[in-house]
Amino acid sequence: MSTAAGRPTTGSSTGRAGAGLPAAGDSRGSAWTVGALGRSRRRTAAPAAAAHEVRMSLAAEDSSAYGDVSETRMRHVMSGFATGVAVVTASTPAGPAGITFQSFTSLSLDPPLISFNPTRTSTTWPRIRRAGRFCVNVLGAEQEHLARIFSRPSGGPAGAAAQFSGVSHRLSELGSPRLSGALAWIECTLEAEYDGGDHTIVVGRVAGMSTVENAGPLLYFRGGYGTFAQH
Ligand SMILES: Cc1cc2nc3c(=O)[nH]c(=O)nc-3n(C[C@H](O)[C@H](O)[C@H](O)COP(=O)(O)O)c2cc1C
Repeated sequence: MSTAAGRPTTGSSTGRAGAGLPAAGDSRGSAWTVGALGRSRRRTAAPAAAAHEVRMSLAAEDSSAYGDVSETRMRHVMSGFATGVAVVTASTPAGPAGITFQSFTSLSLDPPLISFNPTRTSTTWPRIRRAGRFCVNVLGAEQEHLARIFSRPSGGPAGAAAQFSGVSHRLSELGSPRLSGALAWIECTLEAEYDGGDHTIVVGRVAGMSTVENAGPLLYFRGGYGTFAQH
């Protein structure tokens, strides 16, 4: 699944994933500095120069690697597919739970379906599954900290609930945590799950949704966070 390959998941803390992705401060990762958040925001490269740098870097790396479909290579190539970032939340008997996803996508209009892909090793997804309903919180440009909080392994129900401490939220119509300041909320019931290799393809049926106009998204590209700039 291409959706699974471009992100670090929890590689930095567990070693399970993230091979092939630039570490923070890695020069490969900082080539795309236009609109980047946090540390790289302070860089001053001109947009044209930065775009040129990205093109040159990809061309150089891709020319000799055709046929290499290793996990490391797949992670790196797929990390060039920029996505938004969403946190899927649910209320469970042991408290709230949430996971950061970049694999979230709109799937169908009629019926209204969305999809995302949790890894099979996720300990939090089975608990959200049991809840049978969840809220997809599409993160805004200023919510990188939430992406980071909910991409740490929860370590179990208590850890999952602890991740919500200090995180402003309220319960949605379906009873799932809605993160304050999110760009959009999509309330779902669990519709289906399919085999997706080392991930699961989750399909949710949309029960209700809302969005904030005139707000920018949080984006994820080559292992780093950024924002959207209209041409
Ligand atoms: C930007 C970003 C996007 C991510 N997208 C996914 C994803 O689509 N699927 C997935 O399984 N994990 C994804 N992860 C990793 C999970 O958020 C992470 O593995 C989380 O710790 C899972 O929680 P758990 O171990 O408590 O189940 C992503 C991480 C980041 C930082």
